[in-house]
Amino acid sequence: MASKEIFIAVIGAGGVGKAFLSQLEGLSKRLSANASSPKLSLILVSRSTKTLYSPQYKALPFLNLATSLADSTNKPLSLTEIIDFLAAAPAKVVLVDNTSSQDVADSYPQVLSRGISIVTPNKKAFSGSYKLWQDIFSSAASSGAKVYHESSVGAGLPVISTLKDLVETGDEVTRIEGVFSGTMSFLFNSFAPTEGSGGKWSAEVKKAKELGYTEPDPRDDLNGLDVARKLTILARLAGLQVESPTSFPVQSLIPKALESVGSGEEFMQRLPEFDSEMEETKAAAEKEGKVVRFVGSIDVAKKEVKVGLEKFDRSHPIAALKGSDNIISFYTKRYGANALIIQGAGAGGDVTAMGVTADLIKVLGQL
Ligand SMILES: NC(=O)c1ccc[n+]([C@@H]2O[C@H](COP(=O)([O-])OP(=O)(O)OC[C@H]3O[C@@H](n4cnc5c(N)ncnc54)[C@H](OP(=O)(O)O)[C@@H]3O)[C@@H](O)[C@H]2O)c1
Repeated sequence: MASKEIFIAVIGAGGVGKAFLSQLEGLSKRLSANASSPKLSLILVSRSTKTLYSPQYKALPFLNLATSLADSTNKPLSLTEIIDFLAAAPAKVVLVDNTSSQDVADSYPQVLSRGISIVTPNKKAFSGSYKLWQDIFSSAASSGAKVYHESSVGAGLPVISTLKDLVETGDEVTRIEGVFSGTMSFLFNSFAPTEGSGGKWSAEVKKAKELGYTEPDPRDDLNGLDVARKLTILARLAGLQVESPTSFPVQSLIPKALESVGSGEEFMQRLPEFDSEMEETKAAAEKEGKVVRFVGSIDVAKKEVKVGLEKFDRSHPIAALKGSDNIISFYTKRYGANALIIQGAGAGGDVTAMGVTADLIKVLGQL
């Protein structure tokens, strides 16, 4: 008997997209060795200005895919054209959104309502308006299409699947707390290490930028919004109706006077003027024998979500984090005082793509 064919479409071929395509090639090869497994056919790959697709729904070859996409002379398809093309496919389709595009995220309800499943590391859909969140899951429920987004929090770390398992098996999640940004992790682990004194704040930001740990304009990390988006997703999964990532307190580490400076370069030049503020915060924590860290927390019973600086004993797992790792602690009724802790790399193409590929495997098992 011929294997069931499942079509895969990939939007976004950057750091995560390229790593995902390589993992997809491996998965597809492994599945083809087993006649009872589905046959995966990649039918579309797109970037912001390029689309490579097979109008006859024939599988695109993986060999030299990035070059074929870059060299493609196809007229790029609009999002609407992509959705129409996928909805007309003669078999089930999984759309993999490896962009950070709000437009693509906004289209999920439409995609799902047309029976196309989605897997994605893109946070935008799940941390946008609560209405978009509801529309996504109601569209999926009525069409039967699946939607998975493990890598939208903590990259490939099993954060979302663990929280879902806790909730769905009837545990009571009381509190979630952690370091959700690799950039913030790196900055504070070197600015306020558990041993030694650490560097000046502006020097640590400069070092992180040079090592490629920050966005091109570090204000996009320091404003706390990325962490707020992740907290929004987890709070909603824990049952809180969080309206948006700006509907709870989020501490920005951008000095007021530098919020409106024109460029990232100017921001970096002027940041040393404000080192004393961060020095005071560090010294205040040290006086109590603690270190300062940038954390997000959700108190489920009090329905409180917040993001910002907090002090931790040097022996606390959050204080002892290394490099740019993430740590997420789930406090629940079953686990009692000793939290269930997930820790490890929370960024990087390969680990993020691993979460996306693992989601795809879950979807394949249900189609
Ligand atoms: N990198 C990580 O460590 C990490 C960790 C966790 C989650 N994530 C999430 O994973 C996603 C991808 O991250 P990344 O690091 O791979 O980003 P990236 O390197 O900037 O790649 C983004 C890709 O999306 C494409 N794209 C953007 N808008 C598009 C649109 N409207 N239509 C089609 N293609 C579009 C870009 O096209 P061009 O190539 O033409 O520019 C690019 O190929 C993001 O949502 C990010 O937040 C990343």
